[in-house]
Amino acid sequence: MAGGGFVSQSGGKVYEGGVNAFVVITCMVAAMGGLIFGYDLGISGGVTSMETFLKQFFPSVYEQQEKAAGGNQYCKFDSQLLTLFTSSLYLAALFASFFASIVTRAFGRKMSMLVGGLVFLLGSILNGAAVNVEMLIIGRLLLGFGVGFANQSVPVYLSEMAPAKIRGALNIGFQMAITIGIFVANLINYGTAQIKGGWGWRLSLALAAVPAIMMSVGALFLPDTPNSILERGNTEKAKQMLKKIRGLDDVDEEFQDLVDACEAAKRVQHPWKNIMQPRYRPQLVICMFIPFFQQLTGINVITFYAPVLYKTLGFGDSASLMSAVISGAVNVVATIVSIVTVDRFGRKFLFLEGGIQMFISQIAVGLMIWKNFGVNGEGSMSGGKEADILLFLICVYVAGFAWSWGPLGWLVPSEICPLEIRSAGQAINVSVNMLLTFFIGQLFLSMLCHMKFGLFFFFAGFVAVMTVFIHFFLPETKNVPIEEMNGAWKAHWFWGKFIPDDAVIGHHHASNVELYGKVV
Ligand code: BGC
Repeated sequence: MAGGGFVSQSGGKVYEGGVNAFVVITCMVAAMGGLIFGYDLGISGGVTSMETFLKQFFPSVYEQQEKAAGGNQYCKFDSQLLTLFTSSLYLAALFASFFASIVTRAFGRKMSMLVGGLVFLLGSILNGAAVNVEMLIIGRLLLGFGVGFANQSVPVYLSEMAPAKIRGALNIGFQMAITIGIFVANLINYGTAQIKGGWGWRLSLALAAVPAIMMSVGALFLPDTPNSILERGNTEKAKQMLKKIRGLDDVDEEFQDLVDACEAAKRVQHPWKNIMQPRYRPQLVICMFIPFFQQLTGINVITFYAPVLYKTLGFGDSASLMSAVISGAVNVVATIVSIVTVDRFGRKFLFLEGGIQMFISQIAVGLMIWKNFGVNGEGSMSGGKEADILLFLICVYVAGFAWSWGPLGWLVPSEICPLEIRSAGQAINVSVNMLLTFFIGQLFLSMLCHMKFGLFFFFAGFVAVMTVFIHFFLPETKNVPIEEMNGAWKAHWFWGKFIPDDAVIGHHHASNVELYGKVV
């Protein structure tokens, strides 16, 4: 560190310069990338519960669902082909994230966002015009490709643009956009399901073009991050950009740290081989476990299948879609809580509180479904007080997720890696996330069919494990400048021994424990 920054009370170094309109607007535009991801997370469940859609593309599921009336409710939507419609997207996103990591590193974050938006646009056109299952699935694959690019580039973009003290809040703009996307999709499904003639699903799918256009146009106008400009060798331009986003003329100190980080990164030729070295073990483990656990909270059971789940539980068509709208709204509002608190209370506090809240509500949901449907799945919960309580419990669960694992699942992996492995770390995060999203999307309906109410206990068990994991293995990263993250790792009781002394910028100025506190 040139010149030595001063240390804030909460740990980490504080550079001069703060928040200005330019950086906030830039980050808001970039966060739009979350909309495309959110829109299709939210749209497919409602579409697959629409009768005309089922009749046209999945007639056998339609018949099976009709036959189940009064019989075993747990299994009425169990079809691998139907779930492939939802889940294929995430498989494509998984593959795309590896290409995207190369583009993000070699051509910048902005280019990845642009590519993502355009491919996504193509997918939405194909979906809206679909006349057979092939068109549907190919469209979904293109959407997935777009999502892979967006999820690779947007979180990193946000974390690099933001000043350290509000990095959490700005980065969560991404999750905020995801939840808005899901919510808008829920609302649109509610509306299009009422359309006479039954072509509403077409509108639902085609409207994905709107966020795609927003993201593509946004990306055209966005500047790239100083870190990325520097990574691609343009020192002067990178410095100008840093001045602009910090609203300051004197950014020498932060810039020097960026240059140091970039030089360290340049010495590394192969980020992929590199991330396998023991010194990056902490980041590698966290970049794999965070997305793995995020999906095993079971959140996408609600996101994808809320309408189907509510229908399975005996809610009527319109009540099911409405209930999805309600839990979608809770998701958006609760995300705001994390924006306000993440840089103050820190990441770990939110993880732990959210975990406990999700655990309790999941157990309660499981018990209620057990009580009402038993092991044979015969029964119903149409309306009444019980149904209200169930919806309430699901909302408590969604809120717990929305201020913990939802946003932090994207924030933490994007901020914990040094520059030389940042793109690789993020690609691992995205691909593990997508892989697990794929599995949950693909298997949920048959898991529900076989595990019944026990499914909710299954996810609750994982929530317990991940909460303990966070407590012991995640260092607190609030307010730590992004290119100084190694200091936070070095101070960690377990991971500290993996980090060589020379990996810590400014290690000769103060001990890391002094800088970052002892991290449990
Ligand atoms: C997750 C998605 C999830 C969404 C719910 C995101 O952070 O990655 O899988 O559907 O949150 O709000």
